Amino acid sequence: MFNSKTTINIALLGFGTVGQGVVDILHKNKAHLEEKCGKKLEIAGIAVRNLEKKRDIDLPKSLFTTESEKLATRDDVDVVFELMGGIEPAKTCVLHALQAGKPVVTANKALLAEYGEEIFTCARENNLPVGYEASVAAAVPVIRFLRDGLASSQINEIEGILNGTTNFILSQMQEKGQSYEEAFNLADSLGYLEADPSLDVDGWDAAHKLVILASIAFKKYARLADVMREGIAQVTPADIATAKSSGKVIKLVASARKVEGKVTMQVRPVALSNNHVLSGIGAGMSGVRLHADRVGDFFAQGPGAGALPTASAVLSDLVAMLRNAEMSGFGF
Ligand SMILES: NC(=O)c1ccc[n+]([C@@H]2O[C@H](COP(=O)([O-])OP(=O)(O)OC[C@H]3O[C@@H](n4cnc5c(N)ncnc54)[C@H](OP(=O)(O)O)[C@@H]3O)[C@@H](O)[C@H]2O)c1
Repeated sequence: MFNSKTTINIALLGFGTVGQGVVDILHKNKAHLEEKCGKKLEIAGIAVRNLEKKRDIDLPKSLFTTESEKLATRDDVDVVFELMGGIEPAKTCVLHALQAGKPVVTANKALLAEYGEEIFTCARENNLPVGYEASVAAAVPVIRFLRDGLASSQINEIEGILNGTTNFILSQMQEKGQSYEEAFNLADSLGYLEADPSLDVDGWDAAHKLVILASIAFKKYARLADVMREGIAQVTPADIATAKSSGKVIKLVASARKVEGKVTMQVRPVALSNNHVLSGIGAGMSGVRLHADRVGDFFAQGPGAGALPTASAVLSDLVAMLRNAEMSGFGF
């Protein structure tokens, strides 16, 4: 795919938290990354909504455009990083990039949870990879772990703390004795909440990630509508106190199980015993426990959100692509 190239030109669609994180790592770890990839890496262009916005990283104005679709299909672009979020224009950009022969890396869990089938079908038709390690648990390589590392086993259970913001709010309530409203307002003032807070507190974000993990684990496109979902807004200080008095801690747990061929998926607040592996996942971290039939229980945890952890996963997908790793959709 990239064999004849000495330089890989990257189109960055989005220059927010994650997009700027990607450029930060590309600048600071340039020699290391280029050695890993065996190619020079350059930014060919950056799509944003607002050309006037002040950015933390100073780059030539000539790189910026508001025309994301045009950039995604430009002749001089070798690979597209979709880091805008939302469904449109992200979906059109990804599909058009693939149709124009460009591999794609995306961190967009909402897009993959809703349109994964359409995107991976298009990628397959065009014989191109789509990297999406960043879409679940950011720096924790849970996609590769599940899709590739455990490919010989059948997964029958997944359980995870997948949303950092709700984990922060519940941790504040538990450790600082704050009410839900106080903890929510603090998360808001620290910039932790999505533009639409319902994505976090009503469990949508965790459900998007669960759909991706369940699709890989159970080898069938899981549907968002099949996730039983309950958010954290109803958790009261009394619930927290009751859990605490019985040695438990409340977390928003996303879980998927396959029992006798039937898959169930849930996102809801659960009181976990203090000795449960997910009970110690602190604010800003993500953790996933898996049960694989021939080998038993696995647990992975690490930085699950934020600029650098997410950018790290985006760039790990680029390295994998440049090494011709197999990246076939959800692995089935
Ligand atoms: N932030 C995290 O910790 C995290 C973790 C894992 C995955 N993700 C995923 O990564 C993606 C990006 O998240 P983020 O936090 O970086 O978002 P963000 O900070 O809101 O940045 C979004 C970027 O996309 C640009 N953009 C949005 N709509 C556009 C449009 N129509 N045309 C051109 N540019 C457009 C914005 O431009 P302006 O700057 O001009 O507004 C901004 O630069 C999302 O899918 C998110 O779910 C994020």
